Amino acid sequence: MEKFNIAIDGPAGAGKSTIARLVAGALGFVYVDTGAMYRAVTWKVQQEGLLPDQEQEVAALANRMQIELIPREEGQQVIVDGVDVTKEIRTTAITDHVSQIASYGAIRQLLVTLQKQMAISKGVVMDGRDIGTHVMPDAEIKVFLTASVKERAERRFKEMQNSGTCTLTLSELEQDIARRDQLDQDREISPLRRAHDAVLMDSTSMTIEEVVDEILGLCKDKVGGGK
Ligand code: CDP
Ligand code: CDP
Repeated sequence: MEKFNIAIDGPAGAGKSTIARLVAGALGFVYVDTGAMYRAVTWKVQQEGLLPDQEQEVAALANRMQIELIPREEGQQVIVDGVDVTKEIRTTAITDHVSQIASYGAIRQLLVTLQKQMAISKGVVMDGRDIGTHVMPDAEIKVFLTASVKERAERRFKEMQNSGTCTLTLSELEQDIARRDQLDQDREISPLRRAHDAVLMDSTSMTIEEVVDEILGLCKDKVGGGK
């Protein structure tokens, strides 16, 4: 099948990673979760005892570290300097600081360069905040996936309850999501924006399967791929 690239952007908890992984699986494409890369840098910063606001030191550290993303059926495995951090990067200690780290120009430049390299060979489904606008501006399919803050917080809450990692109340989660939305939308460099040619999908009352089907439908219409 012809290879092409799919960019999925949107705010936290909209379903980007779940849907990107399923779409990639259905098409036999590679799934890349770019949020995990910003989380990996944040993890390393904490390991080295740096403060998130030491911008220059954080940038120097990011330049020295090695991030490996390994596609697995259950998701993407993340290795930092040989250490498997797949689970650790999802903790609230990382989530609390990741958007600050992601606002630094030097960090974005470094990670966007790596992400662009991953997309060269095509056949990539990449999710993040700036994929359709900066990382893969020429992606054949672009989706801006969203849902109400309340729905996104409820999804995250359920997910944390199911995995036994629930350290926040539903209202704390809602506040955290709203705070990160604000930081991501307001930052100077590559803020969270819908690309002018991205299809807007509000998944507030859609199931995962419905969203996946709609994206595969877009693939079929635009490039003759999909189901
Ligand atoms: O999974 P969740 O939506 O909670 O977040 P994520 O995709 O893991 O991304 C974590 C954070 O990294 C986001 O809140 C953004 O601040 C940042 N990020 C970014 O700036 N650009 C990207 N392409 C991906 C993530
Ligand atoms: O990557 P992002 O932060 O955008 O969201 P996610 O981690 O893929 O999805 C957050 C949670 O919402 C997961 O537990 C998904 O299973 C769930 N979800 C849902 O219930 N309905 C959807 N239409 C999309 C996601």
